[in-house]
Amino acid sequence: MTMTAQMKAKINQFFSVCFDYPVYFTHDLFNVSNHLLKDVLSRLQEARRHRAMVYVDSGVAHAWPQIIPGIRSYFERYADDIALAASPVIIPGGEVVKDDQDQVWRMMGDISRLRLDRQSYVIAIGGGALLDAVGFAAALVHRGLRLVRVPTTTLGQNDAGIGVKNGINAWGQKNALGSFAPPFAVLNDYDFLTTLSFEHWIGGAAEAFKVAIIKDADFFNYLKEHRTDLNHRSQSAMEETVYRCAMLHLDHIRGSGDPFEFGSARPLDFGHWAAHKLEIMSGYQIGHGHAVSIGMSIDSHTAMSQGLLTQEELKQIIGSLRICGLPAWSPLLERRRTDGTLEILEGIEQFREHLGGRLTITLPRGIGNCVEVHHMDAESVENAIRFLKKYSADIQI
Ligand SMILES: NC(=O)c1ccc[n+]([C@@H]2O[C@H](COP(=O)([O-])OP(=O)(O)OC[C@H]3O[C@@H](n4cnc5c(N)ncnc54)[C@H](O)[C@@H]3O)[C@@H](O)[C@H]2O)c1
Ligand SMILES: [Zn+2]
Repeated sequence: MTMTAQMKAKINQFFSVCFDYPVYFTHDLFNVSNHLLKDVLSRLQEARRHRAMVYVDSGVAHAWPQIIPGIRSYFERYADDIALAASPVIIPGGEVVKDDQDQVWRMMGDISRLRLDRQSYVIAIGGGALLDAVGFAAALVHRGLRLVRVPTTTLGQNDAGIGVKNGINAWGQKNALGSFAPPFAVLNDYDFLTTLSFEHWIGGAAEAFKVAIIKDADFFNYLKEHRTDLNHRSQSAMEETVYRCAMLHLDHIRGSGDPFEFGSARPLDFGHWAAHKLEIMSGYQIGHGHAVSIGMSIDSHTAMSQGLLTQEELKQIIGSLRICGLPAWSPLLERRRTDGTLEILEGIEQFREHLGGRLTITLPRGIGNCVEVHHMDAESVENAIRFLKKYSADIQI
């Protein structure tokens, strides 16, 4: 075809890619009699011995001293099908791993030097922070190796570990670098939850409240009924909480029509504009779940003042969080810049920038439903903070 200078040629490119990955719930994952991990690594029935690199969260290695020898024995038992590319590597757990870009660089170097290919596995065992950092490294080498996540915290099992994102912090911003990269599989072993500190045990419950409040009134009632059990570390109540929360998250990723967040809305980020800012303001002394609990309390108060929640519903939300052992307030909320404005308010614009496009914040509309708003005014945040301070002081008495 010949074209004049003015003619424009256009070929429309369109294709879709199908992703699928199983999320298992199990106990005693590395017991040699549990062949789940071996089966998962062999699930595509390829005629090869699968090589894997294993990264273990230092908090997990500390609480489970037998885990490294256990992993070695496991791979030896199933040596016909699976092989360790190197001895499992212990990586610092917690937000430090996401704050240290050298860690990711080192992992990528290891993966490359050990000649893992795109059909080899990177197995990440740990909390949400380690999963995010290892997932990021695995997504970059050769443009993506197969990632198997073994989340070991409540928040990891019901949220961070089961979705399609990874990332690390940079330039003072949370998750400033990262990618969308669905895992090959997720293996949730409930036994890991037994060794969590109370803070990390209950932190995941905040995310459960989050999805319940905006999506599932029945689940909210379950959480309300079991708030004392959760506080008292009932393993069965937490297993049910983790499972139901994971199901809602997975439903959302599958059914929302926007798994890779191309739009400006992120409905599951109820309470998160303030949460992300608070985490940074606290130098990550406030964990993600606790920050989300405070962020949800602020946004629930705003929802109440806009007539979206009744006072009774607001009380049920912050009262249940409190009985679980989750906060509604932090003194950092009162920190002001030199011009007198609340520092936390910077979280609104940072949240918008992270998503792109128009500011979109999800607020509850009654319990079990939600609505998107495109404006959050400083006065309603000021009011919420005043209310939450007083509420939190009153209940200390
Ligand atoms: N990718 C996503 O979609 C997504 C979603 C939500 C949260 N996140 C991220 O997840 C991170 C928070 O994850 P988290 O709440 O799991 O905390 P975390 O990863 O910071 O872990 C908390 C602490 O518990 C320790 N630990 C982990 N498992 C343990 C166990 N079984 N026993 C004893 N100690 C253990 C860790 O070493 C760490 O010190 C944040 O960085 C957040 O941004 C990511
Ligand atoms: Zn979250």
